[in-house]
Amino acid sequence: MEFKHKDIIALRDLGKEEIELLISTAENMREVNSRDIKKVPTLRGKTIINLFYESSTRTRTSFEIAGKRLSADTVNIAPSNSSATKGETLADTAMNLLAMKPDIIVMRHAVSGSHYFLSKKVGCSIINAGDGAHEHPSQGLLDMLTIKDKFGRLDGLKVAMVGDITHSRVARSDIQGLTKMGSSIYLAGPPTMMPPGVERLGNVTVCNTMKEAIQDADVVIMLRIQQERQGKTLMPNTREYSRYFGLNPENVKWAKPDAMVMHPGPINRGVEMSSYVVDGNQSHILKQVENGVAVRMSMLYHVCGGGNVE
Ligand code: NCD
Repeated sequence: MEFKHKDIIALRDLGKEEIELLISTAENMREVNSRDIKKVPTLRGKTIINLFYESSTRTRTSFEIAGKRLSADTVNIAPSNSSATKGETLADTAMNLLAMKPDIIVMRHAVSGSHYFLSKKVGCSIINAGDGAHEHPSQGLLDMLTIKDKFGRLDGLKVAMVGDITHSRVARSDIQGLTKMGSSIYLAGPPTMMPPGVERLGNVTVCNTMKEAIQDADVVIMLRIQQERQGKTLMPNTREYSRYFGLNPENVKWAKPDAMVMHPGPINRGVEMSSYVVDGNQSHILKQVENGVAVRMSMLYHVCGGGNVE
């Protein structure tokens, strides 16, 4: 199968087979990452610009390493040292960057949908590294790869997601990807952080309690409260939040005994998860980060048209 998209903006735009292709290519890319010399010439001569208007540790570093492992030239731009601080519009920034002939722009932006706008303006490939509360496709793909590593499949699994669903682009990409692959999603969180109509996205159940969501789950994905997107306070205080929606050594037992615990990071220890669970033997959090590099190599490779990986 061939990957026909110029951009990867949302898992909503991809079919099941395209998602499978991106995941299986990532599985192959892992071999490169385990070599002594972690570099292949696949994207030699390609230029990738990482344009991050929002802060990032994992995603930006991971895209940069992914590009470098494929021998692309990668350039990073952060808003604090770009002309955005001088009032330049996104369209103008994009046109100026385009004049330098990049092959791919990887962008993170606070405005949901900004990548669709950019994609219409520029001819190079656009990869979404997170747009507002909309989608975060590379996180969705790396979450699916990490789950597949453990269970060998993605269909027929009960996946619980707990936290600030409304403002989480990770939740949206996970829901889009995992429901297409045949998993069932159970959501829990304060009513103020649950988007109305989320059940319409597919095999999604909104639960009244965290227990209902986690009970017998194969996978438990914990999400950070996105205070930077909330605008106003949506919960009384963090102590109360963690009492009802925090994962701890007691309530993790509601899930299946071999359930995996995941979190996209950054974690607020003691709020959405206790350190005991973050560092415990059910935690796959660092495995998610490890898989992130392979997934991003796969995404960069496919928007560039695929071909042989030497
Ligand atoms: C997430 C993000 O930025 O959307 N983090 C990440 O990319 N690993 C989740 C978050 O910020 O809570």
